[in-house]
Amino acid sequence: MKTHVMQADCRPATNRRHGLWKVWTASLLGLLVFATPLMVSWQVMGVNPVQAAFIDNTNPRANYWRAVREGVSGYTAVVGQETDVLIQNSGENWRQVRNGIITTFGAGLLGFTVVALVLFHLIVGKARLGDRTGRKVLRWTLFERILHWFVAILFIILALTGLSLLYGRAVLIPLMGPEAFAAYADFAKDAHNYLALFFVAGLVLMLALWVRENFFTKVDWQWFKAGGGYFGNQHPHAYKVNAGEKIWFWILLVAGIALMISGLFLLFPNYGFDRSTMQGGLVIHGIASLILVAFSLGHIYLGTLGNEGSFEGMIGGKVDEAWARKHHDLWYQETQEAGRAAPKVEETPAVQPPPQAT
Ligand code: HEM
Repeated sequence: MKTHVMQADCRPATNRRHGLWKVWTASLLGLLVFATPLMVSWQVMGVNPVQAAFIDNTNPRANYWRAVREGVSGYTAVVGQETDVLIQNSGENWRQVRNGIITTFGAGLLGFTVVALVLFHLIVGKARLGDRTGRKVLRWTLFERILHWFVAILFIILALTGLSLLYGRAVLIPLMGPEAFAAYADFAKDAHNYLALFFVAGLVLMLALWVRENFFTKVDWQWFKAGGGYFGNQHPHAYKVNAGEKIWFWILLVAGIALMISGLFLLFPNYGFDRSTMQGGLVIHGIASLILVAFSLGHIYLGTLGNEGSFEGMIGGKVDEAWARKHHDLWYQETQEAGRAAPKVEETPAVQPPPQAT
Protein backbone atom coordinates (compact mmCIF):
# COMPACT_ATOMS: atom_id res chain seq x y z
CA MET A 1 0.00 0.00 0.00
CA LYS A 2 1.32 3.35 -1.07
CA THR A 3 1.38 6.07 1.54
CA HIS A 4 1.08 9.73 0.45
CA VAL A 5 3.33 12.00 2.44
CA MET A 6 2.14 15.60 2.54
CA GLN A 7 4.57 17.74 0.66
CA ALA A 8 4.58 20.64 3.09
CA ASP A 9 8.03 21.91 2.29
CA CYS A 10 10.37 19.58 0.61
CA ARG A 11 13.15 22.12 0.22
CA PRO A 12 16.34 21.47 2.14
CA ALA A 13 16.53 23.22 5.52
CA THR A 14 19.37 25.57 4.36
CA ASN A 15 17.12 26.94 1.57
CA ARG A 16 14.26 27.66 3.98
CA ARG A 17 16.53 29.63 6.30
CA HIS A 18 17.67 31.62 3.30
CA GLY A 19 14.04 32.63 2.49
CA LEU A 20 13.30 33.76 6.04
CA TRP A 21 16.41 35.85 6.07
CA LYS A 22 15.21 37.69 2.97
CA VAL A 23 11.83 38.43 4.57
CA TRP A 24 13.48 39.81 7.69
CA THR A 25 15.88 41.97 5.73
CA ALA A 26 13.09 43.45 3.59
CA SER A 27 10.97 44.21 6.69
CA LEU A 28 13.85 45.93 8.45
CA LEU A 29 14.66 48.02 5.41
CA GLY A 30 11.02 49.05 5.07
CA LEU A 31 10.91 50.06 8.73
CA LEU A 32 14.04 52.10 8.26
CA VAL A 33 12.61 53.91 5.24
CA PHE A 34 9.45 54.94 7.12
CA ALA A 35 10.95 55.45 10.53
CA THR A 36 13.88 57.65 9.51
CA PRO A 37 11.85 60.71 8.41
CA LEU A 38 9.65 60.38 11.50
CA MET A 39 12.67 60.29 13.75
CA VAL A 40 14.28 63.18 11.95
CA SER A 41 11.15 65.31 12.19
CA TRP A 42 10.88 64.44 15.85
CA GLN A 43 14.49 65.37 16.55
CA VAL A 44 14.87 68.33 14.20
CA MET A 45 11.41 69.91 14.19
CA GLY A 46 10.12 68.66 17.50
CA VAL A 47 7.11 66.84 16.03
CA ASN A 48 6.38 63.76 18.07
CA PRO A 49 5.14 61.10 15.63
CA VAL A 50 3.20 59.23 18.31
CA GLN A 51 1.43 62.39 19.41
CA ALA A 52 0.83 63.37 15.82
CA ALA A 53 -0.85 60.04 15.19
CA PHE A 54 -3.03 59.79 18.28
CA ILE A 55 -3.58 63.28 19.62
CA ASP A 56 -5.62 66.03 17.86
CA ASN A 57 -3.01 68.71 17.77
CA THR A 58 -4.78 70.91 15.13
CA ASN A 59 -3.63 74.47 15.51
CA PRO A 60 -6.40 76.08 17.62
CA ARG A 61 -5.85 79.38 15.79
CA ALA A 62 -6.77 77.68 12.51
CA ASN A 63 -10.18 76.74 13.92
CA TYR A 64 -10.63 80.25 15.23
CA TRP A 65 -9.87 81.88 11.89
CA ARG A 66 -11.98 79.31 10.03
CA ALA A 67 -14.96 80.32 12.16
CA VAL A 68 -14.19 83.99 11.56
CA ARG A 69 -14.07 83.43 7.78
CA GLU A 70 -17.42 81.68 7.96
CA GLY A 71 -18.94 84.85 9.37
CA VAL A 72 -19.50 83.66 12.94
CA SER A 73 -20.49 86.69 14.98
CA GLY A 74 -18.98 87.46 18.35
CA TYR A 75 -19.33 90.12 20.99
CA THR A 76 -18.31 93.73 20.63
CA ALA A 77 -18.94 96.81 22.71
CA VAL A 78 -19.34 98.83 19.49
CA VAL A 79 -23.00 98.90 18.57
CA GLY A 80 -23.78 99.10 14.89
CA GLN A 81 -24.53 97.29 11.69
CA GLU A 82 -22.52 94.01 11.56
CA THR A 83 -19.97 95.29 14.11
CA ASP A 84 -19.93 91.81 15.70
CA VAL A 85 -18.72 90.19 12.46
CA LEU A 86 -14.94 90.41 12.24
CA ILE A 87 -14.46 89.39 8.61
CA GLN A 88 -17.10 89.15 5.89
CA ASN A 89 -15.85 86.31 3.77
CA SER A 90 -17.84 87.23 0.66
CA GLY A 91 -15.81 90.44 0.58
CA GLU A 92 -13.07 88.46 -1.13
CA ASN A 93 -15.53 87.23 -3.80
CA TRP A 94 -16.71 90.79 -4.29
CA ARG A 95 -13.11 92.01 -4.64
CA GLN A 96 -12.51 89.46 -7.36
CA VAL A 97 -15.68 90.52 -9.24
CA ARG A 98 -14.75 94.20 -8.95
CA ASN A 99 -11.07 93.87 -9.83
CA GLY A 100 -11.62 91.14 -12.41
CA ILE A 101 -14.93 91.01 -14.25
CA ILE A 102 -15.97 94.68 -13.93
CA THR A 103 -12.62 96.27 -14.74
CA THR A 104 -12.05 93.91 -17.69
CA PHE A 105 -15.61 94.42 -18.98
CA GLY A 106 -15.22 98.20 -18.63
CA ALA A 107 -11.86 98.40 -20.36
CA GLY A 108 -13.19 96.20 -23.19
CA LEU A 109 -16.39 98.24 -23.56
CA LEU A 110 -14.65 101.63 -23.54
CA GLY A 111 -11.89 100.41 -25.85
CA PHE A 112 -14.44 98.94 -28.27
CA THR A 113 -16.49 102.18 -28.25
CA VAL A 114 -13.47 104.37 -29.02
CA VAL A 115 -12.32 102.07 -31.84
CA ALA A 116 -15.88 101.87 -33.27
CA LEU A 117 -16.23 105.68 -33.22
CA VAL A 118 -12.84 106.22 -34.88
CA LEU A 119 -13.74 103.67 -37.59
CA PHE A 120 -17.17 105.25 -38.05
CA HIS A 121 -15.57 108.66 -38.47
CA LEU A 122 -13.01 107.35 -40.94
CA ILE A 123 -15.55 105.40 -42.99
CA VAL A 124 -18.77 107.46 -42.75
CA GLY A 125 -17.40 110.83 -41.67
CA LYS A 126 -19.17 114.02 -40.64
CA ALA A 127 -22.80 114.50 -41.75
CA ARG A 128 -22.42 117.83 -43.54
CA LEU A 129 -25.22 120.34 -43.90
CA GLY A 130 -24.63 121.49 -47.42
CA ASP A 131 -26.02 124.94 -48.10
CA ARG A 132 -27.14 126.77 -44.98
CA THR A 133 -30.14 129.06 -45.40
CA GLY A 134 -28.92 131.55 -42.84
CA ARG A 135 -32.34 131.46 -41.11
CA LYS A 136 -32.30 130.14 -37.57
CA VAL A 137 -34.82 128.02 -35.65
CA LEU A 138 -34.94 127.95 -31.86
CA ARG A 139 -34.25 124.42 -30.74
CA TRP A 140 -33.27 124.56 -27.08
CA THR A 141 -34.41 127.21 -24.59
CA LEU A 142 -31.90 128.88 -22.29
CA PHE A 143 -33.16 126.82 -19.36
CA GLU A 144 -32.76 123.57 -21.32
CA ARG A 145 -29.22 124.49 -22.34
CA ILE A 146 -28.16 125.45 -18.84
CA LEU A 147 -29.63 122.20 -17.56
CA HIS A 148 -27.92 120.16 -20.31
CA TRP A 149 -24.49 121.63 -19.65
CA PHE A 150 -24.92 121.47 -15.88
CA VAL A 151 -25.62 117.73 -16.11
CA ALA A 152 -23.02 117.15 -18.86
CA ILE A 153 -20.15 118.90 -17.03
CA LEU A 154 -20.95 117.14 -13.77
CA PHE A 155 -21.21 113.83 -15.61
CA ILE A 156 -17.75 114.30 -17.12
CA ILE A 157 -16.20 115.17 -13.72
CA LEU A 158 -17.95 112.21 -12.08
CA ALA A 159 -16.88 109.89 -14.90
CA LEU A 160 -13.23 110.97 -14.67
CA THR A 161 -13.06 110.77 -10.87
CA GLY A 162 -15.01 107.49 -10.81
CA LEU A 163 -12.80 105.87 -13.44
CA SER A 164 -9.74 107.11 -11.50
CA LEU A 165 -10.95 105.20 -8.46
CA LEU A 166 -11.73 102.06 -10.49
CA TYR A 167 -8.56 102.01 -12.60
CA GLY A 168 -6.23 104.05 -10.37
CA ARG A 169 -4.23 101.10 -9.09
CA ALA A 170 -3.68 99.64 -12.55
CA VAL A 171 -3.26 102.83 -14.61
CA LEU A 172 -2.55 105.89 -12.46
CA ILE A 173 -0.19 104.53 -9.79
CA PRO A 174 2.37 103.38 -12.40
CA LEU A 175 2.05 106.81 -14.08
CA MET A 176 1.94 109.15 -11.07
CA GLY A 177 3.54 107.13 -8.31
CA PRO A 178 1.77 106.12 -5.08
CA GLU A 179 2.12 109.46 -3.19
CA ALA A 180 0.73 111.67 -5.96
CA PHE A 181 -2.02 109.16 -6.61
CA ALA A 182 -2.97 109.04 -2.92
CA ALA A 183 -3.33 112.86 -2.85
CA TYR A 184 -5.29 112.88 -6.11
CA ALA A 185 -7.51 109.94 -5.10
CA ASP A 186 -8.37 111.70 -1.85
CA PHE A 187 -9.51 114.75 -3.80
CA ALA A 188 -11.23 112.63 -6.49
CA LYS A 189 -13.23 110.70 -3.90
CA ASP A 190 -14.49 113.87 -2.20
CA ALA A 191 -15.30 115.54 -5.52
CA HIS A 192 -17.15 112.40 -6.65
CA ASN A 193 -19.16 112.13 -3.44
CA TYR A 194 -20.23 115.77 -3.15
CA LEU A 195 -20.83 116.56 -6.84
CA ALA A 196 -22.92 113.41 -7.22
CA LEU A 197 -25.73 115.06 -5.24
CA PHE A 198 -25.93 117.99 -7.71
CA PHE A 199 -25.76 115.56 -10.63
CA VAL A 200 -28.71 113.57 -9.24
CA ALA A 201 -30.81 116.73 -8.94
CA GLY A 202 -29.91 117.87 -12.49
CA LEU A 203 -30.39 114.47 -14.09
CA VAL A 204 -33.79 113.88 -12.46
CA LEU A 205 -34.97 117.29 -13.69
CA MET A 206 -33.61 116.70 -17.21
CA LEU A 207 -35.20 113.25 -17.51
CA ALA A 208 -38.55 114.59 -16.28
CA LEU A 209 -38.41 117.55 -18.65
CA TRP A 210 -37.61 115.55 -21.79
CA VAL A 211 -39.37 112.23 -21.19
CA ARG A 212 -42.55 113.24 -23.08
CA GLU A 213 -40.83 113.73 -26.41
CA ASN A 214 -38.82 110.51 -26.11
CA PHE A 215 -41.56 107.89 -26.47
CA PHE A 216 -41.04 105.75 -29.57
CA THR A 217 -43.45 106.06 -32.51
CA LYS A 218 -43.76 104.38 -35.93
CA VAL A 219 -41.55 107.08 -37.43
CA ASP A 220 -38.67 105.86 -35.29
CA TRP A 221 -38.85 102.39 -36.81
CA GLN A 222 -38.44 103.94 -40.27
CA TRP A 223 -35.51 105.96 -38.92
CA PHE A 224 -33.78 102.78 -37.76
CA LYS A 225 -34.47 101.04 -41.10
CA ALA A 226 -32.84 103.94 -42.92
CA GLY A 227 -29.79 103.71 -40.63
CA GLY A 228 -30.54 107.20 -39.31
CA GLY A 229 -29.59 108.67 -42.66
CA TYR A 230 -25.90 108.15 -41.96
CA PHE A 231 -25.53 105.58 -44.70
CA GLY A 232 -26.57 106.69 -48.18
CA ASN A 233 -28.46 109.83 -49.10
CA GLN A 234 -31.76 108.98 -47.44
CA HIS A 235 -32.98 111.44 -44.78
CA PRO A 236 -35.46 109.59 -42.55
CA HIS A 237 -38.26 111.56 -40.93
CA ALA A 238 -37.94 112.62 -37.31
CA TYR A 239 -39.80 114.75 -34.81
CA LYS A 240 -37.89 116.86 -32.28
CA VAL A 241 -35.93 113.86 -31.02
CA ASN A 242 -34.86 111.21 -33.50
CA ALA A 243 -34.78 107.47 -32.76
CA GLY A 244 -31.02 107.42 -32.07
CA GLU A 245 -31.37 110.22 -29.55
CA LYS A 246 -34.29 108.36 -27.97
CA ILE A 247 -32.09 105.30 -27.44
CA TRP A 248 -29.55 107.53 -25.66
CA PHE A 249 -32.34 109.06 -23.56
CA TRP A 250 -33.71 105.69 -22.38
CA ILE A 251 -30.26 104.32 -21.63
CA LEU A 252 -29.64 107.48 -19.66
CA LEU A 253 -32.91 106.98 -17.81
CA VAL A 254 -32.50 103.28 -16.97
CA ALA A 255 -28.75 103.23 -16.29
CA GLY A 256 -28.97 106.70 -14.71
CA ILE A 257 -31.60 105.56 -12.22
CA ALA A 258 -29.54 102.44 -11.39
CA LEU A 259 -26.48 104.66 -10.99
CA MET A 260 -28.26 107.19 -8.76
CA ILE A 261 -29.95 104.65 -6.48
CA SER A 262 -26.83 102.52 -6.05
CA GLY A 263 -24.80 105.71 -5.55
CA LEU A 264 -27.12 106.92 -2.78
CA PHE A 265 -26.74 103.55 -1.03
CA LEU A 266 -22.97 104.01 -1.18
CA LEU A 267 -23.09 107.62 -0.03
CA PHE A 268 -25.16 106.88 3.06
CA PRO A 269 -23.90 103.57 4.45
CA ASN A 270 -25.03 104.31 7.96
CA TYR A 271 -28.71 103.89 7.24
CA GLY A 272 -28.87 100.21 8.12
CA PHE A 273 -27.31 98.75 4.97
CA ASP A 274 -25.14 95.69 5.54
CA ARG A 275 -21.92 94.97 3.69
CA SER A 276 -23.50 92.68 1.11
CA THR A 277 -25.92 95.49 0.13
CA MET A 278 -22.96 97.85 -0.28
CA GLN A 279 -21.08 95.29 -2.37
CA GLY A 280 -24.12 94.75 -4.60
CA GLY A 281 -24.46 98.53 -4.85
CA LEU A 282 -20.86 98.89 -5.95
CA VAL A 283 -21.26 96.23 -8.64
CA ILE A 284 -24.42 97.90 -10.04
CA HIS A 285 -22.82 101.35 -9.78
CA GLY A 286 -19.72 100.19 -11.67
CA ILE A 287 -21.60 98.44 -14.49
CA ALA A 288 -24.20 101.24 -14.95
CA SER A 289 -21.53 103.94 -15.01
CA LEU A 290 -19.36 102.08 -17.54
CA ILE A 291 -22.36 101.60 -19.85
CA LEU A 292 -23.23 105.30 -19.53
CA VAL A 293 -19.67 106.45 -20.17
CA ALA A 294 -19.51 104.27 -23.32
CA PHE A 295 -22.82 105.64 -24.67
CA SER A 296 -21.93 109.20 -23.69
CA LEU A 297 -18.82 108.93 -25.88
CA GLY A 298 -21.14 108.12 -28.81
CA HIS A 299 -23.45 111.00 -27.87
CA ILE A 300 -20.56 113.47 -27.59
CA TYR A 301 -19.14 112.35 -30.92
CA LEU A 302 -22.51 112.75 -32.71
CA GLY A 303 -23.14 116.12 -31.05
CA THR A 304 -19.77 117.51 -32.16
CA LEU A 305 -17.68 115.87 -34.89
CA GLY A 306 -20.40 113.60 -36.26
CA ASN A 307 -23.04 116.18 -37.22
CA GLU A 308 -22.41 119.65 -38.54
CA GLY A 309 -24.63 122.22 -36.86
CA SER A 310 -25.84 120.23 -33.81
CA PHE A 311 -23.39 121.67 -31.29
CA GLU A 312 -24.28 125.28 -32.08
CA GLY A 313 -27.90 124.45 -31.20
CA MET A 314 -26.90 123.34 -27.71
CA ILE A 315 -24.66 126.40 -27.29
CA GLY A 316 -26.65 129.29 -28.73
CA GLY A 317 -30.07 127.61 -28.75
CA LYS A 318 -30.69 128.02 -32.49
CA VAL A 319 -29.98 125.78 -35.44
CA ASP A 320 -29.87 126.55 -39.13
CA GLU A 321 -33.12 125.86 -40.96
CA ALA A 322 -31.21 123.49 -43.26
CA TRP A 323 -30.16 121.45 -40.21
CA ALA A 324 -33.74 121.35 -38.90
CA ARG A 325 -35.11 120.20 -42.29
CA LYS A 326 -32.40 117.58 -42.74
CA HIS A 327 -32.38 115.98 -39.28
CA HIS A 328 -35.80 116.76 -37.79
CA ASP A 329 -38.13 117.54 -40.71
CA LEU A 330 -41.41 116.65 -38.90
CA TRP A 331 -40.47 118.79 -35.91
CA TYR A 332 -39.59 121.63 -38.28
CA GLN A 333 -43.04 121.33 -39.93
CA GLU A 334 -44.71 121.31 -36.53
CA THR A 335 -43.02 124.54 -35.50
CA GLN A 336 -44.15 126.13 -38.78
CA GLU A 337 -47.76 124.89 -38.54
CA ALA A 338 -48.16 125.85 -34.90
CA GLY A 339 -47.34 129.38 -35.88
CA ARG A 340 -44.33 129.18 -33.66
CA ALA A 341 -42.19 129.73 -36.67
CA ALA A 342 -42.59 133.49 -36.78
CA PRO A 343 -40.90 134.40 -33.51
CA LYS A 344 -38.58 131.43 -33.66
CA VAL A 345 -37.33 131.68 -37.23
CA GLU A 346 -35.23 134.71 -37.69
CA GLU A 347 -34.25 136.13 -41.02
CA THR A 348 -30.59 136.92 -40.78
CA PRO A 349 -29.58 139.38 -43.46
CA ALA A 350 -27.77 137.69 -46.30
CA VAL A 351 -24.35 138.93 -47.28
CA GLN A 352 -24.71 142.57 -48.30
CA PRO A 353 -24.33 143.04 -52.08
CA PRO A 354 -21.42 145.28 -53.00
CA PRO A 355 -22.46 148.84 -53.84
CA GLN A 356 -23.40 149.22 -57.51
CA ALA A 357 -20.97 151.22 -59.56
CA THR A 358 -22.73 154.12 -61.26
C1 HEM B 1 -19.18 117.34 -23.98
C2 HEM B 1 -20.26 116.64 -23.80
C3 HEM B 1 -21.56 116.77 -24.56
C4 HEM B 1 -21.84 117.34 -25.76
C5 HEM B 1 -20.89 118.02 -26.72
C6 HEM B 1 -23.26 117.21 -25.99
C7 HEM B 1 -23.94 117.69 -27.06
C8 HEM B 1 -25.29 117.66 -27.24
C9 HEM B 1 -26.01 118.23 -28.33
C10 HEM B 1 -25.38 118.97 -29.47
C11 HEM B 1 -27.31 117.98 -28.15
C12 HEM B 1 -28.46 118.42 -29.07
C13 HEM B 1 -28.81 117.37 -30.08
C14 HEM B 1 -29.96 117.86 -30.94
O1 HEM B 1 -30.17 119.03 -31.03
O2 HEM B 1 -30.66 116.99 -31.50
C15 HEM B 1 -27.44 117.23 -26.94
C16 HEM B 1 -28.62 116.76 -26.41
C17 HEM B 1 -28.72 116.00 -25.31
N1 HEM B 1 -27.70 115.66 -24.44
FE1 HEM B 1 -25.77 116.12 -24.68
N2 HEM B 1 -23.79 116.54 -24.93
C18 HEM B 1 -22.79 116.24 -24.05
C19 HEM B 1 -22.91 115.55 -22.86
C20 HEM B 1 -24.08 115.03 -22.41
C21 HEM B 1 -24.17 114.23 -21.24
C22 HEM B 1 -22.99 113.85 -20.36
C23 HEM B 1 -25.47 113.90 -21.10
C24 HEM B 1 -26.11 113.09 -20.03
C25 HEM B 1 -25.56 112.70 -18.95
C26 HEM B 1 -26.18 114.47 -22.19
C27 HEM B 1 -27.52 114.33 -22.41
C28 HEM B 1 -28.21 114.87 -23.47
C29 HEM B 1 -29.62 114.68 -23.71
C30 HEM B 1 -30.57 113.83 -22.86
C31 HEM B 1 -29.94 115.39 -24.85
C32 HEM B 1 -31.33 115.50 -25.47
C33 HEM B 1 -31.39 114.95 -26.84
C34 HEM B 1 -30.89 113.58 -26.93
O3 HEM B 1 -31.51 112.68 -26.37
O4 HEM B 1 -29.84 113.42 -27.57
N3 HEM B 1 -25.30 115.16 -22.97
N4 HEM B 1 -26.20 117.05 -26.40
